Amino acid sequence: MTKETVLVIGSCGQLGTELVESLREIYGDAQVVASDIKKSDNPVFEGGPFEDLDILDADRLGEILQKYKPTQVYHLAALLSATAEKNPEFGWKLNMEGLFHVLNAARDTGIIKRVYWPSSIAAFGPNTERFNTPQYGAMDPTTIYGISKLAGELYAQYYFNRWGIDTRSLRYPGLIGYKSAPGGGTTDYAVSIYHDALTTEHHTCFLKPGTTLPMLYMPDALKATLDIMHAPAEQIKIRSSYNLAGMSFAPEEIAASITKEIPSFTISYEPDYRQAIADSWPAVIDDTRATEDWGWKPQFDLDAMTKDMLKNLKPQYSAEKAK
Ligand code: SER
Repeated sequence: MTKETVLVIGSCGQLGTELVESLREIYGDAQVVASDIKKSDNPVFEGGPFEDLDILDADRLGEILQKYKPTQVYHLAALLSATAEKNPEFGWKLNMEGLFHVLNAARDTGIIKRVYWPSSIAAFGPNTERFNTPQYGAMDPTTIYGISKLAGELYAQYYFNRWGIDTRSLRYPGLIGYKSAPGGGTTDYAVSIYHDALTTEHHTCFLKPGTTLPMLYMPDALKATLDIMHAPAEQIKIRSSYNLAGMSFAPEEIAASITKEIPSFTISYEPDYRQAIADSWPAVIDDTRATEDWGWKPQFDLDAMTKDMLKNLKPQYSAEKAK
């Protein structure tokens, strides 16, 4: 492999934190530049270069590009569904202008050879087929986050078609991991529930029973992200964004999975504004194209994820108790 330098924008978020760790294992600490508006105290960021970057500041992005000459950029900075609803204008601005700055820099400097930018199940809407949601079908997102993701998909595809920028993207389901806190998503109850299981043994869910949503465990999300970025360009036949699936479940199903490990665990329901967001999203995604084009295959199902989440979170809480 030629010597690559990688820039991760929005590196302190739920996905970025883990991606920086994985990328540093592959490319070496010095070759992976982490950047975010504010550095988090996660030790992973002590292991290699970190730059302060507000992605709305295109000049600052330009300085970082000149300093490190990254050949690959993972642009992850965004406001997620629930947070963006609280400030829709800023959600649109950050999500869209951030993408413009990265794509324009790729076009105008020639430094960046490949761009990764995530889309989401939020790009679908109430008229999308809810079960086995196809790659191509109705897309009528109702949240500002989803609207920005759908527009961004088309925008990235436009840069590929018009200027040959090697853009790659996945429509992530809800992401679940234990290494970092999630940030303002509608699917994030499925992360909090594990923390609650190990502390109060009770979770009050902001979605009601029966709300089936597509989800993906972080090791699978990392694998998909690295696989699509490492696949030969000719295998990437979709330049808007690929459907991606791991598992689908409703709150009572994840609760039942936890109860197998912690029998005293209980769940209750207090749906709020996030219920309407969840109701506008698909339940089960058809990701056949990702499998056909670049060999996607997830490893974790719900029970395997539950066992792994609890195993990895437990020491964290035992250590806190011992303090
Ligand atoms: N996890 C995201 C959210 O809930 C969906 O992509 O906002």
